[in-house]
Amino acid sequence: QPKPIELAIAADPTGPVIDRHIFGQFAEHLGTGIYGGVWVGRDSPIPNVRGIRTDVVTALRALKVPNVRWPGGCFADEYHWRDGIGPADRRRIQINGNWGGVPEPNAFGTHEFMDFAEQIGAEAFISVNIGSGTAAEAAQWLEYMTAEQDTTLARERAANGRAAPWKVPILGLGNENWGCGGSMSAGHYVEEMKRFASFIRNFHPAQRETGRMKRIAVGWDSDRLDYTEEVMKAWQSRVYSWDIEGVSLHKYTTGGWPPRLPATGFGHDEYAIALTDALTMETLLARQSAIMDRYDPGKKLAIAVDEWGVWLAPNPGSNPGFLQQQNSLRDGIVAALNLNIFARHADRVKIANVAQMINVLQAMILTDGGRMVLTPTYHVFRMYVPFQDAQLMPVRFAAGRYGEGAHALPRIDAMAARDKSGQVWLAVVNIDPEAGTSLTVPGYRTAAGEVLTAPRVDSINSFAMPAAVAPRPLRAGGSGPTLTLVVPARSVAVVKLSP
Ligand code: AHR
Repeated sequence: QPKPIELAIAADPTGPVIDRHIFGQFAEHLGTGIYGGVWVGRDSPIPNVRGIRTDVVTALRALKVPNVRWPGGCFADEYHWRDGIGPADRRRIQINGNWGGVPEPNAFGTHEFMDFAEQIGAEAFISVNIGSGTAAEAAQWLEYMTAEQDTTLARERAANGRAAPWKVPILGLGNENWGCGGSMSAGHYVEEMKRFASFIRNFHPAQRETGRMKRIAVGWDSDRLDYTEEVMKAWQSRVYSWDIEGVSLHKYTTGGWPPRLPATGFGHDEYAIALTDALTMETLLARQSAIMDRYDPGKKLAIAVDEWGVWLAPNPGSNPGFLQQQNSLRDGIVAALNLNIFARHADRVKIANVAQMINVLQAMILTDGGRMVLTPTYHVFRMYVPFQDAQLMPVRFAAGRYGEGAHALPRIDAMAARDKSGQVWLAVVNIDPEAGTSLTVPGYRTAAGEVLTAPRVDSINSFAMPAAVAPRPLRAGGSGPTLTLVVPARSVAVVKLSP
């Protein structure tokens, strides 16, 4: 049994607020992420409200999803919003060229997305089409969604069933425009982005002021630095006509490209490869922050990690363009590690979106017809709800290491924060797949919360066994001034601490 680890939590929460938007989600028109996962249609035998499946909405409400990014991803740069409004039987059927080459019926358009966001209580993060669209098209979409005045587009929105304007608090200015978004050089993207940022206006009465809608320019992918540098340079020397509030970063945990790590049936070596890759998020954020600090030392602009998650070999027999993969305890652990890293960078990271919400990549939920299963990643997001908008409390601990050579990893990771009611919460990830860990926490006497673990790192929830990986209660405490908390091997624990 490894030696106990002392974990010291700073007495006062001197850290930044962990923006609830780091717990955002991403729902792209890809595979069965939207069609089947969210949208079943009004006439479906699967219980639904206006075509949106009820079981999924109920499950997502428990996550207090702060924002959903839509319609892509790569799909955003080939999306034309007019194809997705008006009578369903007159909507354009197109081919989804990025994802599987299947027909895209446009049955789920702006009204259906906004309805979904409202049903789950989330805000809209809309990505506009810079790659194959025009600034005028994007500007008109924003007017259609947000204008309250009596304009032709507001009337059209009302005729399509929505009189009141919607809010659009987050706007993506393109997506991966170095690649699927038009293969643009960084310099070319910046010129396009400035034009779009100049002409797209939010007319919602609560969001008309500059800065009330967060505009996110495209920044880094895992190994491309030039976009962030060029965007920041342009921002520093901007004139009055345009502005942005954030720069994106995309990082998938793949363990190599193309993705080939298995989603199931793997051992401790492949587990270590995935976790080693996941932990590089820390370095990427530090590097992107360092670039941004040179142009923006006052940290006005945010980093939006608006795509992150594990990207594995597709499920055998599935359409490889659908990016369908199972979700194991390992993936829940990866989620917790990423969330801890975002929290530690809360001074810069204000938005993050796990890819993706349902049936695609690191999903919260898997569906099959009328059946639904909650993944280990879902449980981690649910357990982390208390950290939304809590204030980070610096934590000191010597994590130690387990394993050898390239596969040596820290034994634990931890993060603490104080919520608005004054309650202190601690998240501990025991990365070690074989050994439990005992933690001593001075200044606290009791802990109560939940822990997520399972017999193996590749344990999953299936339709046959939907609760194989499920949180269970975790309690510790006594009368002494130092709490001893025992966390099992390969686990994520979130507990409320009391002095
Ligand atoms: O999430 C899947 C895809 O990954 C997105 O569409 C794209 O932006 C990224 O490359």
